[in-house]
Amino acid sequence: KRHLISAADLTRDDALLVLDTAEELAQVADRSIKKLPTLRGRTVVNLFFEDSTRTRISFEAAAKRLSADVINFSVKGSSVSKGESLKDTALTLEAMGADGVVIRHSASGAPHRLANWVRGSVINAGDGTHEHPTQALLDAFTMRRRLGDLAGRKVTIVGDVLHSRVARSNVLLLHTLGADVTLVAPPTLLPVAVDTWPCSVSYDLDAVLPKSDVVMMLRVQRERMNAAYFPTVREYSRRYGLDADRVARLADHAIVMHPGPMNRGVEIAAEVADSPRSTIVEQVANGVSARMAVLYLLLGGSEPAIGKEVSH
Ligand code: CP
Repeated sequence: KRHLISAADLTRDDALLVLDTAEELAQVADRSIKKLPTLRGRTVVNLFFEDSTRTRISFEAAAKRLSADVINFSVKGSSVSKGESLKDTALTLEAMGADGVVIRHSASGAPHRLANWVRGSVINAGDGTHEHPTQALLDAFTMRRRLGDLAGRKVTIVGDVLHSRVARSNVLLLHTLGADVTLVAPPTLLPVAVDTWPCSVSYDLDAVLPKSDVVMMLRVQRERMNAAYFPTVREYSRRYGLDADRVARLADHAIVMHPGPMNRGVEIAAEVADSPRSTIVEQVANGVSARMAVLYLLLGGSEPAIGKEVSH
């Protein structure tokens, strides 16, 4: 069985297949065809141990638009509150015959463990500070729709990289697709191993902006940090926030992205988030098409068309 746990599980051909399939599915939706019969008789379980708005809703919409049966599990109201483990929760769901399990969990590595316990394909919907591969796919899909081929495009990812599973998955996928990624962050908000990542690092946002085709702002994950990470919110915004003055440095064609949820006025000014350059709402809509493509390619045929096996 093949899974989608890391953006690195996708070859260049896999990634292009997902993006092309997402484009076809988006065009079908544009023709007001709301539902396809492709996954009729298949069961998708959405297993959310950590809060989510966009990812949870879009996986549910994606599975339903492909006619799958959908079981939504959220930890609130479940027997996890009685101490039931991830393994026992997984085995219970397994008994219901899940063909695909979408999991979000606060522990990095939880989807990998789950893949050892269930027969269905596991799709990582965000694990701790590790990865969020379908976010990277919907981001690449959004960039490609606005800018065309990503090869040689300059993507600048700004902010709290240390806590960001979105940043890691984007760096890996964009590298696979031939884009050049630069991370901009305070030194305290970069992972120690960032020099092993396939990207560049800068501490000077104003110098990088004029050369960028895409600026992706990250949420400052204040729930995961203390005062040692940066002096004050004001100081952070002054050095690393995207406001109208900074946007004026961008090339005319450049776009502004944010995976959400946003801290308006911290990493991104409200007027920038709501401007025509911003793809933030498009990213959410594109998330349904990208996730439909992933579900279709993993569960639609007799054999998965993408992804990677997990060693036991
Ligand atoms: N971008 C993202 O993963 O948002 P949610 O946490 O709301 O799913």
